[in-house]
Amino acid sequence: METKFEQRMEELRLLFEEILNEYLANTQIKPEILSESMQYSLKIGGKRLRPVLMFVTAQMLGGKIQDVSNFALAIEMIHTYSLIHDDLPAMDNDDFRRGKPSNHKQFGEGQAILAGDALLNEAYGLCFEECNKGKSYRMAASVLCKNAGASGMVAGQAADLFWQGREDAGKAEAEFIILNKTAKMIMSAVTIPAYVYDADENIIALLNEFGKNFGFLFQITDDLLDYTGDFEKLGKSVGKDAAERKISSVNLFGKEKSEELADYYSGLCLKILDELPYECSFLQELTTYVRNREA
Ligand code: IPE
Ligand code: IPE
Ligand code: MG
Ligand code: MG
Ligand code: MG
Repeated sequence: METKFEQRMEELRLLFEEILNEYLANTQIKPEILSESMQYSLKIGGKRLRPVLMFVTAQMLGGKIQDVSNFALAIEMIHTYSLIHDDLPAMDNDDFRRGKPSNHKQFGEGQAILAGDALLNEAYGLCFEECNKGKSYRMAASVLCKNAGASGMVAGQAADLFWQGREDAGKAEAEFIILNKTAKMIMSAVTIPAYVYDADENIIALLNEFGKNFGFLFQITDDLLDYTGDFEKLGKSVGKDAAERKISSVNLFGKEKSEELADYYSGLCLKILDELPYECSFLQELTTYVRNREA
């Protein structure tokens, strides 16, 4: 039997799928190959963690999912583009993603690069539309852009590549990589609703801090799963971080210390949730779920 938490998680995920399907049904893209390759990566699954985090935070703040649905589409498109590019031979060279051949395995490298480019631009198109709704939406859009680009995910990916295989990378470099490549997008997911609803500065700061620690927890468990996980459950290759000499938590600190770090960051997440003046039980359960995840 599914727990209440699992049921709600599934409901929110399905809600996102509906929003995505509606968006795709109303968007005509040519040539066919571009449309196909974009839809391939968008629709083959994925946990939809960032949209779910955004929806839950919106509801927690007393708002509605519809208020953030375009931002949820935008963040998932940016995330999906980052995965398509991350899998390219020039980056992590991964043949599988979300249980299927990676985008470039299916459509070729050139089309994969372009599918990523197109998803990023679609995401910004949605953000610009949201900007017409007023200042709070403009703030939210600006946070999304900042955390995705040269002060966020792209910077983290650049550092990830730069330090790959180097012996002189340490804790500071690993923290820079995780903060930027992974945590910043999660910080966007949980602060965007707060910007949209003009929440108090201290609420935004707490949510940002929660997102940061949740991002560290998420990437450290991703690194652990690359070491101990199961291909069938994950839908992506395992053992690649060691083979490619990535600055992953496991490669740098070892498995045991990484488990301790995951406990540490999940503890920080729970502590921050205690400080928030809202009903946070779903986010508490989600933190524990991510700490123990197998996929
Ligand atoms: C994978 O993200 C990349 C990381 C930041 C670790 P997810 O594990 O959220 O990937 P999907 O969206 O579920 O495929
Ligand atoms: C990627 O981290 C984070 C992104 C911003 C795409 P990883 O390279 O560890 O993600 P996976 O393991 O390929 O999903
Ligand atoms: Mg990578
Ligand atoms: Mg990768
Ligand atoms: Mg990984």
